[in-house]
Amino acid sequence: MKFTHALIEKSAFLLLVFTLIVVAIGGIVEITPLFYLKSTIEKVTGMRPYTPLELAGRNIYVREGCYNCHSQMVRALRDEVERYGHYSLAAESMYDHPFQWGSKRTGPDLARVGGRYSDDWHVAHLGNPRSLVPESIMPGYAFLGRTPLATDDLANHLIANRKVGVPYSDEMIAMAKQDLRAQVDPDGPNADQLLARYPKAQLRNFDGQAALTEMDALVAYLQMLGTLVDFSAYKADENLR
Ligand code: HEC
Repeated sequence: MKFTHALIEKSAFLLLVFTLIVVAIGGIVEITPLFYLKSTIEKVTGMRPYTPLELAGRNIYVREGCYNCHSQMVRALRDEVERYGHYSLAAESMYDHPFQWGSKRTGPDLARVGGRYSDDWHVAHLGNPRSLVPESIMPGYAFLGRTPLATDDLANHLIANRKVGVPYSDEMIAMAKQDLRAQVDPDGPNADQLLARYPKAQLRNFDGQAALTEMDALVAYLQMLGTLVDFSAYKADENLR
């Protein structure tokens, strides 16, 4: 035994070969089980592609770099679950391209911020965070409420997302502009169509102003975050088998 070990240690070639074998065993143990899972994303009820307005809001979220200070992933740790709610499921970010998990929390996690505050709170907070949280170091984004929402290239954003796997139908793409308008006009004629295409979509004037602004889109996006999955129907572990 002693002789063999000395032999391996003294030959760079043998040492390399055996090192690679040991590393390969470790790799196989970690990787092979994945081939026996039907999917690494659990099936959940409620997830749907984002409405055009939510998607526009998401684009603004990415453009403004909100992810630099905010994560969107509640970890499966007790303190996080008590603070933010149910830990995040892979399915909850399956339509995010790119995902917004983030790696830094200067501000709180936003994965479940939907419904936690009123629209007015968000509009005031985004306009000037210190008006509500005096010690906040978050920058203000008041200009969003003054910037009309660009809708001309909206269908292209749905098409781009479809290319990477989000199941937007031809109808959703053709109706993108109408659906976007319908979401801020709950009494309008097209509200039912929007809800048929995007169940659980929240319809209202999000920023309280007559004009359609970037603030409408961003608040619509924030109010949707973490609200889609029906957790009463979700049982961990059952879905992966
Ligand atoms: C420089 C870091 C920074 C950036 C950039 C930033 N935030 Fe924040 N955010 C914070 C901090 C710190 C807090 C906690 C204090 C507060 O509520 O203002 C916070 C709080 C929040 C909250 C309240 C969360 C809760 O659960 O109480 C929301 C919503 C929010 N931010 C949204 C955004 C959005 C949307 C953007 C991008 C437009 C953004 N933030 C950009 C730092 C940041």
